[in-house]
Amino acid sequence: MPRALWDSVDDYITTTLLPSDPALAATLATSATEGLPPIQVSPAQGRLLELLARSCGARRILEVGTLGGYSTIWLARALPDGGRVVSLEVDPHHADVARRNVTDAGMADRVAVRTGPALVTLPLLAEEGARPFDLVFIDADKPANPDYLTWALRLTRPGSLIIIDNVIRDGAVLDAESEDAGVLGVRRCFDMVAAEPRLIGTAIQTVGSKGYDGFAIALVVDVA
Ligand code: SAH
Ligand code: DHB
Ligand code: MG
Repeated sequence: MPRALWDSVDDYITTTLLPSDPALAATLATSATEGLPPIQVSPAQGRLLELLARSCGARRILEVGTLGGYSTIWLARALPDGGRVVSLEVDPHHADVARRNVTDAGMADRVAVRTGPALVTLPLLAEEGARPFDLVFIDADKPANPDYLTWALRLTRPGSLIIIDNVIRDGAVLDAESEDAGVLGVRRCFDMVAAEPRLIGTAIQTVGSKGYDGFAIALVVDVA
């Protein structure tokens, strides 16, 4: 199936279902001007994140991988007053751009961007005794996904949702012999979800402006 068709349908979905959005357009423009790679979620995927956050009534959201704050802003918009997004970013320039975008989008009072490798900032959150997060969006360096999933489980509660981006990777996820650390990270996450009694999970393949990829979604449940 031609990629051009995926793009056209994605455009159709976006223009039909999503209102035009100057704040998010400005975020994309600033991120591009600042030289950030254009790898943020698509508009329709951003809205999916917002819907999932609203559906589970999320008040506290954790994001791993901020980039320019595009997905962060979608998630922040799902919050009720007093809600909070904590977003973790290793690259100081990305974090600076994200803070500026979040401020320009009027979300500064509900978003905290923390600079540093997530495998440093996640343990810090735990040490600080952070209250459980209601939703975790994992979208950073893919080889570390199994570690991020482990931290997500520690930092959530029954009822929380864990979402992992980029789990299909043009179908590369199929290759059990892959030498790509990102593919191995995804496959390990799938195995962890399958083996973890506290998680009910699935994965959704997606096509569109981001090519052929997908999300894993897992619900944290109580185990007797
Ligand atoms: N969630 C964003 C896209 C994130 S792109 C959106 O959809 O808008 C992945 C981001 O993860 C990049 O900004 C990259 O710098 C960051 N990243 C890579 N390794 C990281 C690490 N070890 N800790 C935290 N962030 C990391
Ligand atoms: C890349 C990273 C992402 O999180 C994404 O959604 C798409 C591409 C990348 O590193 O190329
Ligand atoms: Mg991604």
